[in-house]
Amino acid sequence: MPTLLRLDISHFRNLRSAALQPGEGINLIFGENGSGKTSILEAISVLAHGRSFRTHKYRRLINNDEKSFTVFAQLHEGTTRNIGLNRASNGDTQIRIDGKAAYTSTELAECLPLLVMNSSSFQLLEGSAQVRRKFFDWLVFHVKHEFKQHWKLYARSIKQRNSLLRRDKITRSDLVPWDQELIKAAQHIESMRLEVFDQFQRYFLKEIGEFLFTGKLGASLTCTYVSGWSKEGDYKAQLDDQFERDVAAGYTHVGSHKSDLKINLARVPAVEELSRGQQKSVIVALYLAEALVFRSLTGRKPVFLLDDLPAELDEANLQIVGKALKNMGSQVFATAIDPKPILTGWELVEDKSLKMFHVKHGQVELKNDITLRDSFLL
Ligand SMILES: Nc1ncnc2c1ncn2[C@@H]1O[C@H](COP(=O)(O)OP(=O)(O)OP(=O)(O)O)[C@@H](O)[C@H]1O
Ligand SMILES: [Mg+2]
Repeated sequence: MPTLLRLDISHFRNLRSAALQPGEGINLIFGENGSGKTSILEAISVLAHGRSFRTHKYRRLINNDEKSFTVFAQLHEGTTRNIGLNRASNGDTQIRIDGKAAYTSTELAECLPLLVMNSSSFQLLEGSAQVRRKFFDWLVFHVKHEFKQHWKLYARSIKQRNSLLRRDKITRSDLVPWDQELIKAAQHIESMRLEVFDQFQRYFLKEIGEFLFTGKLGASLTCTYVSGWSKEGDYKAQLDDQFERDVAAGYTHVGSHKSDLKINLARVPAVEELSRGQQKSVIVALYLAEALVFRSLTGRKPVFLLDDLPAELDEANLQIVGKALKNMGSQVFATAIDPKPILTGWELVEDKSLKMFHVKHGQVELKNDITLRDSFLL
C-alpha cells in the first residue's frame, strides 16, 4: 500500500522548513489555531494533485517571504519512489518522479491516492451535483486506468462545442465532428462509472450501512447514480433535442459533466430530512465505502488526510472513522487542536504504532514519547 516514509516541506505557507518521518499507520498532528497543521495536509495534497484542497490560488501557498515552495516525499509501495513538486510565483512548476521530470500531476495522483476529509467534505449532501460527481470520479479515476484519457477527450470536446455554441449563426451540422467525439467519450465514461457504481452502492448500503445506519436511516436510505442525460432515449438524440436551448445559453446542457449521485431517504433527498449529525454519518459511510471499493478493486489502500475531524464529528462518528481506518490499515494524517478526542476515541494511548507531531509557529516536532501521552488527557 502507498505509504509516505518522508515528507520535506519548504516555504509552504507558514511552514518554512518542515521534515517529517511519518508512521505507516496513524499520524496525529496537533497544535494551536494557526500553527500550521492544515498546511501540512495541504502540502501533501498539492503533491498528489498539483493543487490545494483549499485554494486555487497557488501563489497564496508560497511563504510570503519567498519566491517558490517545494514539497518532497519518499513514497513506498513495493518499491521506494521519490516524488517532488516545486512551484514558483511566476507559475513555473516542476514535478519530478525518481529524479525524472514529469509533465502532468496525474502521474503524481496515481502514485499517491489520497482521500481528504475536511469541513467541505461535510457539504457533500447539500452541495451541488459537481461536488458529488468529483467525489465519485475520484474512485473511477483510481480504479479505471482508461478513465482519464476519455475524460480528457470529453472535456476537450465540451470546450470546443461550447465555444462553437457561442458563435453567430451556428447550425446543427457545425457541431457534428465535435459531437461524434463527445458521444464516444461520454459512452466510455458512462459505462466505467456504472460499473464502479455497482460496487460502490453495495459497500455503502450493505457492508458499511448495515452496521452504521439504524432505524429509518437503515431501512429507507438509497443511493442512485444519475446520468448526465435522461434514461429514455440515447445521448445523441438528447443533444439534438437540446440544440436550441444550448445555443441560447452558449452551453451544453446534457452530458457526463451533469451526472450526480442521488442520496435519498425513501423519495425525499436525504439532505431535506436528516439531521446534521445523521447527514455526517451518511457522509462518513460514503468516504469509507469509497476507500473500501478502491481497496477491493486495486489491492491498494488510500492515504487519508483528516483535517480537524473532532471539530466536525460527534464522539460516536469520530470513533467509527477511527475504527474503520485502523481496520483498513491505511496511512492516516489527522490534525486536531487538542489530541485528546482522537487519542481516547481511537484507543491510541498505548498504541506504539501511533506517531504524534506537534506544530508551533510553523515548526514541526515529533512528540512520540508514549509515557507523555497521559499528559494530553488531563
Ligand atoms: N503565504 C503564507 N506565508 C506565510 N504564512 C502564511 C501564508 N498563508 C497562510 N499563512 C499562515 O499560516 C498559518 C497556518 O495556517 P493553517 O491553516 O495551517 O493553521 P492550522 O494549524 O490548521 O490552524 P487551525 O487550527 O485554526 O485550523 C496561518 O496563521 C496563516 O496566517
Ligand atoms: Mg486547520
